[in-house]
Amino acid sequence: MITIGIEGTAHSIGIGIVEDKDGSCKVLSNMIKTYRPEKGGIHPREAANHHVAHVADLINEALKTADISSQDIDLVAFSQGPGLGPCLRTAATAARALSLKLERPIIGVNHCVAHLEIGRGMIPDCTDPVLLYTSGANTQVIAFAEGKYRVFGETLDIGIGNCLDKFGRALGLPFPSGPKIEQYAKQGERYLELPYSVKGMDIAFSGLLTAALQYHTKHKRLEDICYSLQETAFAALTEITERAMAHTEKQQVLLGGGVAANQRLRDMVSLMAEDRGAEFFVPEKSVCVDNGAMIAWLGFIMYQSGVRMELKDTIINQRFRTDQVKVSWRD
Ligand code: ATP
Ligand code: FE2
Repeated sequence: MITIGIEGTAHSIGIGIVEDKDGSCKVLSNMIKTYRPEKGGIHPREAANHHVAHVADLINEALKTADISSQDIDLVAFSQGPGLGPCLRTAATAARALSLKLERPIIGVNHCVAHLEIGRGMIPDCTDPVLLYTSGANTQVIAFAEGKYRVFGETLDIGIGNCLDKFGRALGLPFPSGPKIEQYAKQGERYLELPYSVKGMDIAFSGLLTAALQYHTKHKRLEDICYSLQETAFAALTEITERAMAHTEKQQVLLGGGVAANQRLRDMVSLMAEDRGAEFFVPEKSVCVDNGAMIAWLGFIMYQSGVRMELKDTIINQRFRTDQVKVSWRD
């Protein structure tokens, strides 16, 4: 069965085409186009206009790369939430139009759950992980427990990616700033004290961001600030992930989201897993970031488990919570 997935929760519009191969996910194509504001943060309506302008071409490109025709598609999936309203509506509208035109079923999926399921779908040994999902807007620790995907810990203010990007923007670093901060951090020599905010299994970054910016105002070495920022934030993320693993008694940890590209974060979480005798997994980068393939894959496993949606069920949900999803494909 071939599924097309349309991702459009924030600044990227992604089209992925996947095929089911004996229960695991084969990505046939996965195209992404990202809206980059000239300056400042993203404006939801402008990001949505960007998605409108590119979605049709991207679908054609994805079909071409996958070397299939639109008639080969069996199912249309899209990101139903959480995310920015205008962006979500654009992806949903494109999905509805495609579903009607091709006369194929449509499934709306939860973006956060898709980050976890793509790991399970693409890494055969990864069956029941705790997911540390770290992206721009999101920072959550998610695991399956008692019939649902539950959020065991999350950010109380901004996502870790936003924290890095805001720090970078204030210093005039290019957007997204995560990769640049990682490079500077490698040259860090001195740890500068920063606030460490873990509250139970939750986490906060704004105090850390403010303190890091203050070091910059005081002309501390940029490399040392970046190093200290990473060490502090990633240690906190690793700690809440470990707590969720201990609490759920799970023996696997999976990374997802754009910040999972960071080698220092990978090293810290992988060391923690090793200490616990647990397995560590990270999917390839193209499916870690926001992408259409993960949306397609979750749509497929939902459909396969019997989920069906009418057009009236495809209304977007900006605040779609991870634990609102009825998980019919696992027990
Ligand atoms: P969301 O999934 O919350 O809608 P998003 O679209 O911003 O957010 P992604 O594309 O998954 O999410 O991730 C983008 C984020 O990843 C940016 O904040 C970027 O700075 C960060 N990032 C990318 N590479 C690295 C890296 N090497 N180190 C740290 N952060 C990184
Ligand atoms: Fe995401």
